[in-house]
Amino acid sequence: MLKNLFIASSAVVLVACGGGGGTTTPPPPPPPPPPANQAPVVASANADQNGQVGFDINYDATQGGTTFTDADGDTLTITVTFNPADNGLAAAGGTITGKPQRLNDVTVTVTADDGNGGTANDTFIINVGVDQNAIQAKFNGNIDLTNLPNYENPTIPAYITKLTENGNPVTNAGAILGRVLFYDTALSIDDTISCASCHIQAQGFSDIDVVSVGVLGGETRRHSMRLINTQYANEVNFFWDERAISHEAQETMPLQDFNEHGFSGTNGRPDINDLITKLEALEYYQELFRFAFLDTNITEPRLQLALAQFTKSINSFDSKYDSGRAQVANDTDNFPNFSASENAGKNLFLSPPPRGGAGCFRCHSAPEFDIMPNINGHNGIVAEASDPTLADFTNTRAPTLRDVVKPDGSPNGQMMHNGSKATLRSVIDHYNNIPVPVTEPERTQFLDNIDMRLVMMSSTPPSLNLSEAEKQQLEDFLKTLTGSNVYTDPKWSSPF
Ligand code: HEC
Ligand code: HEC
Repeated sequence: MLKNLFIASSAVVLVACGGGGGTTTPPPPPPPPPPANQAPVVASANADQNGQVGFDINYDATQGGTTFTDADGDTLTITVTFNPADNGLAAAGGTITGKPQRLNDVTVTVTADDGNGGTANDTFIINVGVDQNAIQAKFNGNIDLTNLPNYENPTIPAYITKLTENGNPVTNAGAILGRVLFYDTALSIDDTISCASCHIQAQGFSDIDVVSVGVLGGETRRHSMRLINTQYANEVNFFWDERAISHEAQETMPLQDFNEHGFSGTNGRPDINDLITKLEALEYYQELFRFAFLDTNITEPRLQLALAQFTKSINSFDSKYDSGRAQVANDTDNFPNFSASENAGKNLFLSPPPRGGAGCFRCHSAPEFDIMPNINGHNGIVAEASDPTLADFTNTRAPTLRDVVKPDGSPNGQMMHNGSKATLRSVIDHYNNIPVPVTEPERTQFLDNIDMRLVMMSSTPPSLNLSEAEKQQLEDFLKTLTGSNVYTDPKWSSPF
């Protein structure tokens, strides 16, 4: 093929020569071409530069006009492009300014254009690092900002569809700051209490004690809640009584609670601004806040965002229930990995009374097992933890029913807002026959404030009429909702 082409073009040349054979006057010589444009050239390439997350860069990529030369003296227009384009840098007239936002190195291409079609490019790299000297001194290698655990892209099963990010998605930089805050006793007035004093990883981020002890012996009013899968839920209000309007709003309330972290500003106690001043003096927070927020300002909203990112990141989806759920299309299908008793318990959980079901799904919905957002009454557990003769009708939220018990089957602390239930069986017995006060006015108040799903078709809660075998099935099923990784994964453990 190549050979044929060669012959063909030779033939054309021969014909042309023959046709031009000396019989006509040669055309006048063309005018001399204008002098060719001289393109600019790189005279002095930029060396690679160093930057740091959250620190201003101000660099003249023309190096005072010496980066490029142009032999015919054309005026050069300089443009700069960045790859990636979104790491906080901008340029005007060849001068680069801005703050790198993340650790990605930035490739900079500087282009000189002489306006006559001639261009030259100089490419160099801004190596983006991070200032973490104080962090490394404090945490002795437990935290390396250049090599963080993966908080921001967890593997979540496809059947988990609920996600309430509330405009504050988890990032690695925010979650690591939140983790340090969560475990830091400097966040209490006498340096004794951290969030983790009452939210213990080995207990599913709850507490063994019925009520928890904060600063100077102060006690909480209710039982500590497990902090698992909090963002894989529809209910946006937090605490047993839902008094916090969002996850973020909740996160600094313990700091300002007289009995918990103590920065209440009451009875001569310091307040949240004093806490902020205290944290500003700790150099590792200067570095962590700059890494997460690009400057060192510590504010209450930033404490909320970072603590919420850490607690939102805590997830548990490696239970026996999850391996079964992944193999079927619907929750109501029999799970191949379940025993007959576990499958029967699942049916009881997912079926409505009075036709043989226990109706739990009406308030704790599969597959997240989060509490339904529309509960408008109590579940029959009304005694105050501190004084059982007082009634508290306000508790309409519960943590996910995942990880109510540990992998060994023992509870992660007592259950319910008042910690009144020590075993799963006692919880099931409660729902099977909800005890209604017999005296007035307690009886009427109790029934006026109960969630109607527990009353159904009569003015008082009917018995679910579960047999002992059915109670055992329900208990066996509830135990399948427990994972294992969440109790030990170092990414949620203390960095101190
Ligand atoms: C002294 C013990 C104690 C300390 C310290 C403490 N908590 Fe709690 N936490 C509790 C108790 C008790 C509850 C339930 C209180 C209620 O509902 O009235 C709770 C509830 C919560 C909830 C609500 C969970 C839900 O599903 O609604 C979150 C989130 C939480 N705590 C996070 C934190 C964070 C973050 C810190 C540190 C800034 C912290 N806690 C410090 C005891 C404590
Ligand atoms: C009417 C809604 C409703 C129904 C139906 C319901 N629950 Fe609850 N559940 C709640 C509420 C609200 C709480 C928290 C109440 C409190 O502590 O005062 C709760 C708490 C719990 C707790 C304790 C969680 C913890 O972290 O301490 C368990 C376990 C539980 N329910 C299991 C069940 C089972 C099993 C069923 C079915 C037999 C069921 N629930 C039916 C609303 C309901």
